[in-house]
Amino acid sequence: MKSIVVVGSQWGDEGKGKVTDYLAQVADVVVRSQGGNNAGHTILFDNQKFALRSIPSGIFNPQIKNVMANGMVINPKQMLEELDGLIARGITNFQLFVSNRAHIVLPYHEALDGAFEQFKGDKKIGTTKRGIGPAYADKANRIGIRIGDFVNPHVFKEVLAETLNIKNMELKMLGLPQFSFAEIYNEYTEYAKRIAPYVCDTSLLLEAELKKGSKVLFEGAQGVMLCLDHGTYPYVTSSSPTGASVPLNCGIAPSYIQDVLGICKAYTTRVGEGPFPTELHNDLADYIREKGHEYGTVTQRPRRVGYLDCVALNYARRISGINHLAIMLFDVLTGIEKLKICYAYELDGQVINTIPATNYDYSRVKPLYIELDGWQEDITKVTTFAELPANAQKYLRTIEELTGVKIALLSIGPDRKQTIQLEELF
Ligand code: IMP
Repeated sequence: MKSIVVVGSQWGDEGKGKVTDYLAQVADVVVRSQGGNNAGHTILFDNQKFALRSIPSGIFNPQIKNVMANGMVINPKQMLEELDGLIARGITNFQLFVSNRAHIVLPYHEALDGAFEQFKGDKKIGTTKRGIGPAYADKANRIGIRIGDFVNPHVFKEVLAETLNIKNMELKMLGLPQFSFAEIYNEYTEYAKRIAPYVCDTSLLLEAELKKGSKVLFEGAQGVMLCLDHGTYPYVTSSSPTGASVPLNCGIAPSYIQDVLGICKAYTTRVGEGPFPTELHNDLADYIREKGHEYGTVTQRPRRVGYLDCVALNYARRISGINHLAIMLFDVLTGIEKLKICYAYELDGQVINTIPATNYDYSRVKPLYIELDGWQEDITKVTTFAELPANAQKYLRTIEELTGVKIALLSIGPDRKQTIQLEELF
């Protein structure tokens, strides 16, 4: 296959960074198509740990073209901090292309994100407070600022003046401090100068690469269950992290998207609020949280933990066209006596196999489980499926049976080398 979309098949944090980094070793182009610095991709190699937020995971390889596509909302200040952090650690030789149609995140977006969360009280979404929702809202409301306008100081001056006028009225009505045009303009035109050399029409670049047969990896952020349209609304992010969203978010034809690799933890986690049927509140949850280091990369919040939910996984498969699976953090399950996988829900006495549209219903579903025996053997150095303990093999085969999708990659530790490839991908 020539192009592959990597999507999170749960509520984010599935380990997409590791898979993207693994596949990026053979990719020509790596693309981030949506979201912004609400994402946090942790990559470990050669005993070094890198936490990427908005920059694509191919940045470590000088041969790879890294694209930040039009569907993203980019915080210029944070992007430059991230870039400077990489440069300081010796990552100086890279290729980066930023879409002139992507939108920017400005300080008033972050202020509004925090304020809305506060106003909502116990109905809060649990956002990352990075201004993502307000930035996408401005885009839809046609008062967003695009990168192409941002890097032209005259145009930026004009659009910022118009936009800030409206935003300051909004902030005033909400009783929040307003922002000074001069302060934002002076600070951000400096950032714009530094970002300008990377800016281009990435839709043209991607079409040219796809046409000539380059291997293009579309790196997802968040997960299908956090999709604005198909996730557990309103407890979702403000973009669509599905395979279907990639053509729109990158400006390419849908026919270029054929293969979708769903990244799935061997269990389930969620940060932020919203229904989570298989959530555990017991010692097992604490065991998995500590062993799997289940704390947010961006916000450090402890993640909610639960059993693997194959209803949610099947929903993600259907919505996103997942035709290969990568099972992540499999080693975390070692040492657990009995494991459970949710295969269906019960709602009002009926067995259902999909996600109800309303949170009223979704918060009332009861998970139905298959119980499996666990394994005690260390699996972190295993290199083939056949070497895995029989019970570990059974767990994986059960996931394949419940989803009808083959497992192509299996992760048994954080390092790039601790990856077993079961099916050919790129
Ligand atoms: P926002 O994207 O900051 O608006 O947050 C909306 C919801 O998406 C919250 O529940 C966040 O915790 C969640 N979220 C956003 N980005 C990520 C991510 O990269 N991983 C996991 N959850 C995320």
